[in-house]
Amino acid sequence: MKKAIIIGGTSGIGRGLAEKLIENNWTVAITGRRTELLEEIKQKSNNQILTLEHDVTEINSSDVKLESLFEQLKTVDLVVVSAGLSEMNEELKWDVENKVIQTNVNGIAKVYEFVFSKFKKQGYGHLAAISSIAAIRGNRHCPSYSASKAFQANYLEALRCIAKNKKLAIKITDIQPGFVDTPMAKGDGLFWVAPVKKASTQIYTGIIKGRRKIYITKRWRLIAWIMKNAPSWIIEKM
Ligand SMILES: NC(=O)c1ccc[n+]([C@@H]2O[C@H](COP(=O)([O-])OP(=O)(O)OC[C@H]3O[C@@H](n4cnc5c(N)ncnc54)[C@H](OP(=O)(O)O)[C@@H]3O)[C@@H](O)[C@H]2O)c1
Repeated sequence: MKKAIIIGGTSGIGRGLAEKLIENNWTVAITGRRTELLEEIKQKSNNQILTLEHDVTEINSSDVKLESLFEQLKTVDLVVVSAGLSEMNEELKWDVENKVIQTNVNGIAKVYEFVFSKFKKQGYGHLAAISSIAAIRGNRHCPSYSASKAFQANYLEALRCIAKNKKLAIKITDIQPGFVDTPMAKGDGLFWVAPVKKASTQIYTGIIKGRRKIYITKRWRLIAWIMKNAPSWIIEKM
């Protein structure tokens, strides 16, 4: 039986993916801050899902807590990093920007580093993390969010380069959703919003196929191409 940990599995895409993995006979552990949700999910799964209260921004205790999950599971095949924070903040309120940076940059980078070094010791593993289509260009509505997602996407690519270069059996997948129907999909003018179930199924399939990058849903690959190639004056108008 394969084993997975989902960082940020209490709601949204992470929770949907946990259900998908269970459906496919994986042993699953999830983490998050909301202990009442962790307990609810554990009970609903008849204690099949392991849970851990874990806040990625608590950098000093992050590794120790995750280590306890690795110890319980003995071996871990897959870690999915879904935890993240998104805030609209065109006004650049620093407390808001800082919170997003502490979560999506500092907190998530610590998790990537911990998981990568664990997989290195174990000799194999698959790290799949959710960045976003927002990683492609700066977005005036959510400056720290789009920048933090670019950080994540580049970090994941760098980890893949290290793994290749050092001939490590570690797979890295960058998942880039457009819009998925969770409370995080904020703002006006949302389109092609995918239900969580559809997003989870496509992510699961992409992970099993060992893809480097997964667009959610698949047609967001087209938007990604347009965004990458759009001239600055169009991006400035958006
Ligand atoms: N929904 C979209 O349209 C969309 C589009 C592109 C990318 N994404 C990305 O997809 C990922 C999942 O988002 P979602 O849409 O599923 O939203 P969500 O339902 O709000 O899920 C976010 C998850 O992150 C966890 N989390 C947040 N802050 C955390 C912290 N400090 N420490 C540990 N866990 C934390 C939350 O758990 P707790 O609150 O229990 O800690 C929750 O499980 C995010 O990285 C997001 O940026 C989403």
